[in-house]
Amino acid sequence: MNRIMVAEPTLGGNERKYVLDCLDTNWISSNGKYIGKLEAAFAEFCGSRHAIACNNGTTSLHLALVAIGLEPGDEVIIPTVTYIATANCVRYCHATPVLVDVEPGTLNIDPAAIEKAITPKTRGIMPVHLYGYPADMDAINAIARRHGLFVLEDAAEAHGATIAGRRVGSIGTAASFSFFGNKIVTTGEGGMLTTDDDDLAARMRLLRGQGMDPNRRYWFPVVGYNYRMTNIQAAIGLGQMEQVDHKLSKRREIARWYEESLAPFAASLDLPFETAQTRHSYWMYNIFIKDADEVRRDAIMRHMDAAGIETRPVFYPMHVLPPYAEKSRFPVADAWACRGINLPTHEGLARADVARVAESLRSAMSATAVPRAKAA
Ligand SMILES: Cc1ncc(COP(=O)(O)O)c(C=O)c1O
Repeated sequence: MNRIMVAEPTLGGNERKYVLDCLDTNWISSNGKYIGKLEAAFAEFCGSRHAIACNNGTTSLHLALVAIGLEPGDEVIIPTVTYIATANCVRYCHATPVLVDVEPGTLNIDPAAIEKAITPKTRGIMPVHLYGYPADMDAINAIARRHGLFVLEDAAEAHGATIAGRRVGSIGTAASFSFFGNKIVTTGEGGMLTTDDDDLAARMRLLRGQGMDPNRRYWFPVVGYNYRMTNIQAAIGLGQMEQVDHKLSKRREIARWYEESLAPFAASLDLPFETAQTRHSYWMYNIFIKDADEVRRDAIMRHMDAAGIETRPVFYPMHVLPPYAEKSRFPVADAWACRGINLPTHEGLARADVARVAESLRSAMSATAVPRAKAA
């Protein structure tokens, strides 16, 4: 039987044609028409005034923090459950990522925990829209306004997720996206910043291109970076953006298939959800096994792997990883992250694939169930 991968790119549109155009016309580096076209398409998609393409979603986060003016010794509040790039980018600026706990179910940053973590050194908040589900941006923006903080959305995983009809990427001071090969929209490696702030966008563009004065070639008023995207990456991205509506609706369909297939044993699971205000973009259909610990969760994943199904564990919280290890208690993160599994989520999946994943999960759960007598 075919192996079902947790994520796969789908390159079914004009990607090939546009890449060949780059090769045929010799525009293979970081000048060329596809970069501007991708930026314009992405800004329109998010509903933001500006989009600035970068070479990946880690450099875009770093660039945003430098452009915002983060300085050594500053503090930035981030959720402890995230991909490590969120924390690393704060460290790259010699600032301190201040870890806070997350909300049950979504594992997105808990606004109440943010409020408690604010100190005189706090400069900003980086909510992460984890696995494609939007963080509580109304509450986060309200806290930021009260304390004069920036809000940098880490939207690496959440292209197209919405809150009250507004797409992530248009809600904070700025936002950062990833176009890595496993993301909803990919350029192989790539990233994008969005913002409505004209000055901030200009600083991002300046710093992205080694800090070269846009009106005076080889004059560098500041220390910048080479974080530019290539025309070839952007060509793939433009082909992807032309299909983004289909991508998002296909992912919603896959999520509905999972709901149906998991329904017979859904009482043993916590499943993704939406509210009246929120729309998930389902980068990953993420489930939590109730009553499991990390040992059983990992055993379930091994069973599924043996059945030809790749899965991924939910990210380890930052506070258990060596560079950010802390003893402070993060009860929600500790209770939830070790029970979480990302199920395969990509546009190549058919309904039968989803049914096979669900059946394999069911059988792995029953094979690893702790007998009642022993559990007691
Ligand atoms: C939450 C989050 N932030 C940042 C990144 C970094 O993006 P990239 O891998 O494109 O550097 C990722 C990538 O997976 C991510 O999931």
